[in-house]
Amino acid sequence: MKILVLHGPNLNLLGRREPEVYGSMTLGDINARLMELGEEFGAELKCSQSNHEGALIDVLQDAQTWADGVVFNPGGYTHTSVALRDAIAAITIPVVEVHLSNVYAREEFRHTSLISGVCKGKITGFGWRSYTLGLRVLAEMLKESL
Ligand code: DQA
Repeated sequence: MKILVLHGPNLNLLGRREPEVYGSMTLGDINARLMELGEEFGAELKCSQSNHEGALIDVLQDAQTWADGVVFNPGGYTHTSVALRDAIAAITIPVVEVHLSNVYAREEFRHTSLISGVCKGKITGFGWRSYTLGLRVLAEMLKESL
């Protein structure tokens, strides 16, 4: 089982960026946890981050050629990007949307996600654990279907 973990804009700053909102773990810390968890599930993980919309689209399109599923935190593009939504709709592998913060407890513009409707499901508000929850549910579902 192969899984892509994809992080969008500004998530490279985790640990330093608004730690009261996003926590103190760095992106490297989170990726390391996910790698460990992936091993437990027998899943091979590739972690990637970009601040650029087009680069994220390239990575998603490429994932279709090698991955069985994607755990994706699109950051601020969640609320703005028709192009990312289209990219997710275009690939046939399942995508799980994750957010560290509870987007519904924040500004109103964060309550709208352009990508939720084309994702398998969504996890929001559990800090770094949103990623581990997302990975867990994706791996379990893939195991059932592979
Ligand atoms: C985020 C929530 C988004 O609203 C924000 O723009 C981010 C991070 C989260 O993980 O909580 O960059 O996706």
